[in-house]
This record gives sequence, C-alpha cells and structure tokens, in this order.
Amino acid sequence: MSFDDLHKATERAVIQAVDQICDDFEVTPEKLDELTAYFIEQMEKGLAPPKEGHTLASDKGLPMIPAFVTGSPNGTERGVLLAADLGGTNFRICSVNLHGDHTFSMEQMKSKIPDDLLDDENVTSDDLFGFLARRTLAFMKKYHPDELAKGKDANPMRLGFTFSYPVDQTSLNSGTLIRWTKGFRIADTVGKDVVQLYQEQLRAQGMPMVKVVALTNDTVGTYLSHCYTSDNTDSMTSGEISEPVIGCIFGTGTNGCYMEEINKITKLPQELRDKLIKEGKTHMIINVEWGSFDNELKHLPTTKYDVVIDQKLSTNPGFHLFEKRVSGMFLGEVLRNILVDLHSQGLLLQQYRTKEQLPRHLTTPFQLSSEVLSHIEIDDSTGLRETELSLLQSLRLPTTPTERVQIQKLVRAISRRSAYLAAVPLAAILIKTNALNKRYHGEVEIGCDGSVVEYYPGFRSMLRHALALSPLGAEGERKVHLKIAKDGSGVGAALCALVA
Ligand code: BGC
Repeated sequence: MSFDDLHKATERAVIQAVDQICDDFEVTPEKLDELTAYFIEQMEKGLAPPKEGHTLASDKGLPMIPAFVTGSPNGTERGVLLAADLGGTNFRICSVNLHGDHTFSMEQMKSKIPDDLLDDENVTSDDLFGFLARRTLAFMKKYHPDELAKGKDANPMRLGFTFSYPVDQTSLNSGTLIRWTKGFRIADTVGKDVVQLYQEQLRAQGMPMVKVVALTNDTVGTYLSHCYTSDNTDSMTSGEISEPVIGCIFGTGTNGCYMEEINKITKLPQELRDKLIKEGKTHMIINVEWGSFDNELKHLPTTKYDVVIDQKLSTNPGFHLFEKRVSGMFLGEVLRNILVDLHSQGLLLQQYRTKEQLPRHLTTPFQLSSEVLSHIEIDDSTGLRETELSLLQSLRLPTTPTERVQIQKLVRAISRRSAYLAAVPLAAILIKTNALNKRYHGEVEIGCDGSVVEYYPGFRSMLRHALALSPLGAEGERKVHLKIAKDGSGVGAALCALVA
C-alpha cells in the first residue's frame, strides 16, 4: 500500500469510528419517552417512605428531598438579609436588599475555593467551614462594620445558606450532607449538619450576630428568586399569564426543584403533613436531586467513556450518573476520554507515538473545560481555525484540519446528548404535576441558572427540540418558557431567610 493509500484508509477508519461514537450518543424520541416515564416512576417512589433499611445515603433512587419551603414569593417581600453560597468553584457572601417591588440590590464578595480544599484528601470540615467563616468576616468588615463592632450586643443578622450538594434536610435550617458532588471529597462532612458546622465557625471567628436561619439548595434559590423577580401578571388582561413551576440548574452540576402537593409527599410524617395543611399550606418545594436519576443505569444511555469517567475518574462512583452525562463538569471530560481512546487505537493525533507523549493537559482528568467545547461547537471558520486555537491554548494540542472536523462532530454529539437528556426531568415534572393543563392556557415558566444553559451555544434550542420530541409534544413545548434566573442562590437564600 502506498503512503497515500494508507493515509486514506486511516482517514476512513477515523470517520467510521467517530460516526459510531456519535451514533452511541444519540438520544432517540423513543428513548426520551422511556426515560420520561421512568423519571415519573422514580419521582413517585422517591416521595413515598423509603423501604425498610433504606436511607437517602444508601438508596440509588431519586432523593426527592422536601425543602421545607411551603410558599412562593410574589415580589412584595422586603428586608435586608445576608446570603452565603457554596456550590461549585466559588464561595459568595452577599447582603441582599429586597425592595418589595420585584427588584433588589446586592453587595457581594466572591472568592475562589482554594484548590487544596478540593483536592487534598486530608482536608477536614473545619478547614472548609473555617474558610467560609473567614470570608464572611472579611465581608462583614467591609459592609457591616458597625454590626461587627457591636459583637454580642448587635441585632442578629439573618443569613440564608445556599449549599448546593445533596443534603437530607430535616427543617428549614438544618440538614445533613448525604454525599459530596462536583469534586469535593471531605469525608468527615458526610452525615453532619452543615448549618451547625458553618455556625460554629462563625462563632469561632467572633460573629455571634450572624445567624444562619435557613438552608437551601441552589435550585430552590433559583425558583424563589424567579418567583420574586418575575412580574407574571399581564396588565392587559389583569390575569396571570404564566406560572413559575420549576427551578433548575444546568451548570457545573445539574438539578431541579418544583412545588409538590403536601398530600403526595407521603414520606413526610403524617402529623407534620396534617399540621401544615391545618395551617393552610398545600404545597412544599421538593429538591429532586436529579443528578442522581437512574443511578442503577436501567435506562440511561451509557458508553464505555461514561463507565470510565464514573468508575475511575469521578469522586463519587456509582452516584449522580445523570449529572455525569449532562452537566458542564463532565462534557469536556467525555471528549477528553474519547480523544485519548481514539489516539490509543491509532486513529487520531498520531504525531504522538505513545500515550505518555500526549500533551499532559490531554492526559490529565478534568483539564478540558466545557468552555472549550462551546468554542468548537459553533466554529464555522475556514479549516476550523478557532477550534485549532482553542485546543492549542487549552491543551497545547496541535491538530490537523481533518482531525478538527471529527472533533467538532464529537463535540456536537456530546452536547446534544446532554441537552436532550436535560429535557427529560422537565418533561417528567410538567407531566406529573399536570402543569400544562392548569390555569389560563397552561403556560409555564421554568427558572434556569448555570453556565451551560446560559452560555453553551445552542443548548437551549436543543433542549426545546427534545421537549417537542418528548411526550410533551410540540404543543406542550410551546407552552414552556425557559427563563434565565440569574443570581438565584443569593436572592433565593435571602428570601428563605426572610420567611424562616
Ligand atoms: C448537586 C445539587 C445541585 C446541583 C447544581 C449537584 O451536583 O447535587 O445539590 O443543586 O449540583 O449546582
């Protein structure tokens, strides 16, 4: 075989291999039906009392955690409250002023979580919560020095704590960590009450005036802040035109919450349900923790790359398997694993003879960020120059034009699978709550936050496309309004603190 023939044969083999992978990433309408039906089944199971001997930590089903929030704000709430937000790569502390007219103002301080708190296995809860308390102290010094100076004599300042990890919530201001996600691995926090841990460190740092009165998840915050900021009444008809029904995050992690009828949350003790209903409460927010959908892999599409990422590379093997196919933390990791595999099969990046010779960034887990994929996704430059630059800058990886065409196909298959799967929980919740058949025209709003839904090019259109292919159908999809609800964690936590 001549060199040219050999080259052509390799190129054909690459195309064949890439097309096969893209096929494996396809989510068909039939799959959407199957997943949506299974999601509804799992939601129902998660609302019922657990089987004997099962706990949220041991169970592989949907956690469906009652959030102890029983009402939605209407935008008239007022007050100045503190909010702290730990959820991904940053810790944020804010002072939120709710103006009572759907608007708010906010002062905030954001700090990157130091890498050693994420990577080092010897880190303890005191290290992490000590860091949060020190950042809170810096914030108080800058924005509330008078209160700080008064010490014990100050009027307590109410703080809402957005803690965006699975927590077994026991009341509005207490909950124990079920397990870490998104990279944390501090073993001694698991099973502990995160409000107590934070409050103790605040005390230790001389802040008795800061009282953590509410604990919330970022999805709950997104839902509440969306309710607060959206003026969803139509002045022309003086009727409500659409109702917020879901709060969701598609960012580093993924998750959502919705309002469920208290009567249906049968895992809440009967006395508590009776008491709430007597008080006139009918609904409670459920934090679905949908990252953990189908941890048993009965229906989720699974490729060999998903298995390696979960079992060998993630910090929580066997859990959050839906998140590992959908969220921003994993999109780049899926591509990285595919590229290394195609290289090992002699199909791509053949200028490197062995795996050891590949650029270190390409062989290091979680070094390829979803931001790089977002550049490749929409690259229409000649010879895919943007892609070339992006891969050079992020991974120091040179590529040929033909390789880049294949890489772009892979990127699009990965993001499409993510967006199609993202439609499943939304369709399932809308069907389960019958939201599209209620009220005037059944229009619904979904408050969304997170880097993927906000910035990944085409993500929202692909998600909508999948909603139309799902059991909701095109007619149902048209009634769904996806609204970006920015800053949910801060405003939502403040709203929680207000009612606590
Ligand atoms: C966590 C959720 C959180 C989501 C989005 C997931 O990894 O388990 O609690 O809401 O990320 O931040």
